[in-house]
Amino acid sequence: MLACMAGCTTGVQQSMADARIESLIGRMTVEEKVGQLSLYAPAGVDIVANPQAAQQSIDQQMADIRAGRVTGLFNNEGLEGKRRAQEAAVKESRLGIPLIFGADIIHGFRTVFPVPLAEAASWEPALAERTARASAQEASADGFRWTFAPMVDIARDARWGRGVEGAGEDVYVGRQFAAARVRGFQGSDLSRADAMLATPKHFAGYGAAEGGLDYNTVDLSERTLREVYLPPFRSAIDAGALSIMSAFNEIGGIPSNANAALLTGVLRKEWRFQGFVVSDYTADEELIAHGFAADGREAARRAFMAGTDVSMQSGLYMKYLPGLVAAGEVPKSRLDDAVRRVLRVKARLGLFDQPFRGLDKQDGPRFDAPAHQALAREAASRSIVLLKNEGDLLPLPRSGKKIALIGPFAGISDLFGPWRIFPDQAPPMGIEEAMRSRLASPDLLTVVRGSDVDAPIAGGIAAAVAAARDADIVVLSIGENEQMSGEARSRSDIEIPKAQQDLADAVAAAGKPVVVLLRNGRALALEGGVRQASAILVTWFLGSQTGPAIADVLYGDVNPSGRLPVSFPQTPGQVPYYYSHKRTGRPQLADAPAQMYKARYLDATNDALYPFGHGLGYARVRYDALEVQSGRMAWDGSLKIRARLSNTGRREAEEVAQLYIGARSASVTRPVRELKGFRKVRIPPGESTDVDFTLSRADLMFIGQNLKPTVESGPFDLWVGPSATQGLKSSFVLVPE
Ligand code: BGC
Repeated sequence: MLACMAGCTTGVQQSMADARIESLIGRMTVEEKVGQLSLYAPAGVDIVANPQAAQQSIDQQMADIRAGRVTGLFNNEGLEGKRRAQEAAVKESRLGIPLIFGADIIHGFRTVFPVPLAEAASWEPALAERTARASAQEASADGFRWTFAPMVDIARDARWGRGVEGAGEDVYVGRQFAAARVRGFQGSDLSRADAMLATPKHFAGYGAAEGGLDYNTVDLSERTLREVYLPPFRSAIDAGALSIMSAFNEIGGIPSNANAALLTGVLRKEWRFQGFVVSDYTADEELIAHGFAADGREAARRAFMAGTDVSMQSGLYMKYLPGLVAAGEVPKSRLDDAVRRVLRVKARLGLFDQPFRGLDKQDGPRFDAPAHQALAREAASRSIVLLKNEGDLLPLPRSGKKIALIGPFAGISDLFGPWRIFPDQAPPMGIEEAMRSRLASPDLLTVVRGSDVDAPIAGGIAAAVAAARDADIVVLSIGENEQMSGEARSRSDIEIPKAQQDLADAVAAAGKPVVVLLRNGRALALEGGVRQASAILVTWFLGSQTGPAIADVLYGDVNPSGRLPVSFPQTPGQVPYYYSHKRTGRPQLADAPAQMYKARYLDATNDALYPFGHGLGYARVRYDALEVQSGRMAWDGSLKIRARLSNTGRREAEEVAQLYIGARSASVTRPVRELKGFRKVRIPPGESTDVDFTLSRADLMFIGQNLKPTVESGPFDLWVGPSATQGLKSSFVLVPE
């Protein structure tokens, strides 16, 4: 049977649904139509993930639902609240159109999975698809059929707090994860009870905020927008996403929420997007603050006419669209189009036929909770990145050595990451408990906090240094807390907070081997005692199974196989820092001595401290025997590329072989390297395996001078290697047509 991504509706079913929708549209008043375009947080429930906005009373909201003035509710109303609201919509409103319940299901619901940036570090889109599927099963069992995810914004400035919600800096990785997550949330058929409508967000360019400051201005060339920021959205839509969220930010003077070129030009005309556009939270009203609309009426008109179909939370559409339609300033056809899009999606979700699915009382979870915990542990352990491991300090011994676990993250706080807005999340296990359970004797572990996340504690450093002196090995658990990344959580400095840096430096001076466990929602600039540690593991926010997953890696039950989806710079001042940069006319080449009048800083080299794609395992892997099928790729042909990977260690290796290309010259300058493929492979000790890639002309596409997709013949370099700055190098020529 053919898999169908966005609902297995047959042609006959579709035309019946269409007929039903047209008949409804024919009977709806203008106000009822606008109701289908108006989405709200539930009244009477604390808004936890957003600023407080004008909220109605519960009675008023229920009255509005009965009057057909609400299309759906989002975040946190609970099962009972959802059922009451749905009853009001279906049984008491004139036309009985069901509500849709949405939520920010970003990295799990009851089971908390690693934050999306962490999962991207697994370089396993299939894993992200599975965690998205599990999240959808859990959330749909609670009546949510719509998620405001995946976030597919490319993030190249580590100061930006929301990078934690996406897949990092790279377009190719971003596209793979965007599509995988949509497939995971939506499943094979949108009408199934456990399918959730996916919403790639934030359209568009939100990650390019100036200075990494959330909500800030974006000024991007159309070329970079099309080449870097839009492709993951395209992949998400191609994978079947039927809603998309317009972003808060402006691009070059046009707020995205009212950007007709994007919302109508790109989405509808170029990409033939069939779903609906939902605004970000009050983003239509924010057109006034942007200085793009004089008042609410103008804001509603501009957002709606540009292509934002559904208004989230501001209530502006309900307030002004009926009048705008009556005045002829908004054509009725535009209103009907938007309503049709929303109703079609509701029909695809099966809401008309089974509005109460997932909303009935239940005795226990309707999903396999233990299996989801096992998946959370698998995902978490596979998201961890080993940056360095001098003298093979890791894995740690289970006996015979005393360990001092130092730092503010040994317990169960700050494991979940930014989107912890739902009640009843599975209780997590922290590092201390998990480590202790692995040791021959629990007394081998001493735990000292040493410092708070952002402030010293009296006597903390002295106690930590004493514990370090008394131990054989120090495990330093330091980094950022959950409040340091996510929405509205940009940092001007991406270093370890000073109190913890002081702790790390003092502990390092005790002279014991140090393993750093970084907790982080972004790339960090590592300094002093952290940078100099013998071993460093990037552990992000790993969710419910943080402790067991970290212990799995620390004690060698799991070989670390994550790779960085973001570059770690040398110094904080280098951000925005990403591997796929342009060359400039005066490049300072990495292997050349520093020269004046070259593109370099006086006080730092240009190379990353840890490049994109980097990560080690407990075995060594050698790359050799790079074979490129031919030095020439025919215009309509393809090119096979093969390299041999050999495990020279004594443990199993898991390697992510990465294929990069770089055009030597083109009519538009090209980045030094661009990722075009990767393969994650297991290699038994002492054995070799071949990895194969195929390139074709489409992989060499860029946005040309005319702003259209372009391919040019000519010479290209290619690399197959373990990161964006290493690898075996070869070249080929794309032969003209
Ligand atoms: C965020 C969105 C989120 C929405 C609803 C906004 O502030 O930017 O990502 O989906 O709130 O919670």
